[in-house]
Order: sequence, then C-alpha cells, then structure tokens
Amino acid sequence: MKKTVALLCGGVSPEHEVSLNSARNIYKAIDKAKYDVIVIGVSRSGQWLHIMEDEFMALSSLENDSSGWPLMLVPGEELVIQYRPAAQSPVAGQQFPNFQISSFPKIDVVFPIIHGPFGEDGTLQGLLSILGLPYVGPGTLGSAVGMDKDFTKRLLRDAGIAVAPWVTLLKHEAPDYGAILKKLPFPLFVKPANMGSSVGVSKAENESELKAAVELAFKFDTKVLVEQGIKGREIETAVLGNVEDTTASGVGEIVMAQGFYDYESKYISPDAARVVIPAENVAQKDVENIRQTALKAYRALGLEGLARMDVFLTAEGDVYVNEPNTLPGFTNISMYPKLWAAAGLNYGDLIDQLLQLAIARYNRDARLQRTRG
Ligand SMILES: Nc1ncnc2c1ncn2[C@@H]1O[C@H](COP(=O)(O)OP(=O)(O)O)[C@@H](O)[C@H]1O
Ligand SMILES: [Mg+2]
Repeated sequence: MKKTVALLCGGVSPEHEVSLNSARNIYKAIDKAKYDVIVIGVSRSGQWLHIMEDEFMALSSLENDSSGWPLMLVPGEELVIQYRPAAQSPVAGQQFPNFQISSFPKIDVVFPIIHGPFGEDGTLQGLLSILGLPYVGPGTLGSAVGMDKDFTKRLLRDAGIAVAPWVTLLKHEAPDYGAILKKLPFPLFVKPANMGSSVGVSKAENESELKAAVELAFKFDTKVLVEQGIKGREIETAVLGNVEDTTASGVGEIVMAQGFYDYESKYISPDAARVVIPAENVAQKDVENIRQTALKAYRALGLEGLARMDVFLTAEGDVYVNEPNTLPGFTNISMYPKLWAAAGLNYGDLIDQLLQLAIARYNRDARLQRTRG
C-alpha cells in the first residue's frame, strides 16, 4: 500500500536555506509510485505550514506570511489539522468567523530535514514521538547526545574510543587557564558545546588567543570545550541502520587549502575546502579501522537511522572521533549521500531505506509492552 511521507523542512536555525535545498532533493528522489509526499515547512519563526508542491520548488525561505495552511498538532487525536486563522483577533465568546479547518492526510512517516537547534537536538524527535509518528534519524536521546560535544566525548571515552583530550568550561565559573595550559598543549580548539557549522569555533595558538576564543564561544553557549588540536586528516564515513543491523560506507575526506574547516570554508568560500570521495591514499587497514570505529561510536551514542561520523586520522594511523552528525546535509553535493552512492547505493534508494528504517524502528518499539499487566 502507498504510504504518505511528510517532509519536514526549514526551521529556525541559520541552516534554514540548506534545509530547504536538501528537502527539495529528497522530494525529487522519493519514489512517487511507493510514497505520496506532503511538505511541512517550518518558518524562520517556527510556524508549521502545509506547503504545496509548486510553491515549495520555488521557495528560498519560509516566512510566516508564506502561503500555505498553518498547522495545529493534536496529540492523541489526529496528528495535524490545518486551519486559516481569523483575520482579526476574535472577541471573547464570539464565533471565529474566518477560522476554517480542512482535513490533512494521515502521515505514515516523517522525514525531518531540519538542521541545528529544534531540528536535530532531540526536541523535534520528542515531539514526533509524542505524536506517535515514525521518523527518519536517531531518537530523542541519540539526537540530544549527538548535539552536545561534551556528552558525546564522555560517552565515546567510556566506550574506549579515542577523542581529542579536552576541558569543559561553564559560563558561571571563572576558567582556570593555568590548569588548562598544564593539561593541553597548543594549538587548541575552542567550541560551544551545542552548535554546528563551526559557529563560534576558533583555533588558539597562545594564551591571549585562547582567552579571546573562550569569550567568543561563550556567546553561543553556557558550556564550552577547549580541545587539544589533533594533527590529522579530516575523514568522514556514513553510517546507516538501526541497532540490529548497522553498516558503514567507505570514507571521504575534507581537504583544506589552508586553516581549519570553519564557517567560511563550509558555506562562503567553497574553494577553501574540497570534498574527496573516496578519500585518496588511505591504507585499506585505516579505512577498515575508521569504519569499525564509526560503528562502535554509533552504538555508544545510542544512534539509529543514520549519522555521518567525522574523525581525524593521524600520520601514525590513529583514529580520533571528532563528532557525529545526526542530520547531515542531503544536497546533491553533500558528503553523506555521496558516500553511499560511491558504495553503490544511489540517492533514491538511500532515501527509501531511511524511510523503511524509520518505520521498522517504530514498529519494533510499538510492540513493547506499555503496561505491567
Ligand atoms: N581537536 C581538533 N583538532 C583539530 N581540528 C579541529 C579540532 N576540533 C575542531 N577542529 C576543526 O574545526 C572544525 C569544526 O569543529 P567541529 O568540532 O567539527 O564543530 P562543528 O560541529 O561546528 O562542525 C573541524 O571540522 C576541524 O576542522
Ligand atoms: Mg564538524
């Protein structure tokens, strides 16, 4: 039977446009013989809107006044209803003359493709869980853990996986720079615990740069990591599957012309960083080690569905996990789908697998007993 997929895209993070781009690619790639697709756009201020196909294809950004029906969620009842709000605020006790409700298709599975806070940090996943809907990507816990670099590193360390040595700072406590410098040699990387896209990340070569970097990172978060810089290649691998059956792709590399993979090189000057798939001149044993480490990390972090795992590979062949990315980009040039394409799984089949994994996980968990009796 044909299933209905809701593509959830946009969102309040700076990666709003990236999300719409990814979502359009996914929309095109979904097999329409198997799935009906509806688009739910989240505006820049957080409003959910039902967007029609034509408009969606032309959209560069979603504002509240974008055409499309605003949506209401009704936990425990129907998932979603769409409505047109009253033109003026209604007088208490009066009817809502302009308030129209229209039916909304029953959703079988959601593909959330919203990056950053309120997209991949577990909050949206919690909402979808409460609504009783299967969704692509890790659950609430895995998503939340994967977003927090401090919790991620502690769990990885506990699993015996190498991570860059680090110190965690909290905004309300004065940093003990003497202790940090005793523990960690320069260069250091300073980052907010819960961000992405390299926002607020700096490299520090001396104490005054370190202080400036910490100050900057605290603008974005109340928790900041100071990490030892790892001298190595930036290698990424794509992990796919639920806990019962997880696989890793081959490896790709981010090759920098100079400096590190900062916001500028990710989004503004595309020439600054080159994505190479498969990564060149990586010994087979190192590829295997990276894949196995990625699978181990995926499990340690409670991830399911998918994640891109980013690591550093040193000249000695040591593998340090940098971070998981539980909602990697899905544009045509994005690393995650390209890694799978290189492994023989094309974009359309990858999307289909992700939807099926979401439904399988939902059904698995729905079979669990919810009462004692
Ligand atoms: N410990 C480290 N050693 C070397 N480079 C690092 C380190 N931490 C971060 N970087 C550089 O900074 C970039 C962004 O840091 P990352 O932790 O991946 O944050 P984000 O979640 O914003 O991508 C990395 O891709 C890498 O180039
Ligand atoms: Mg990163």
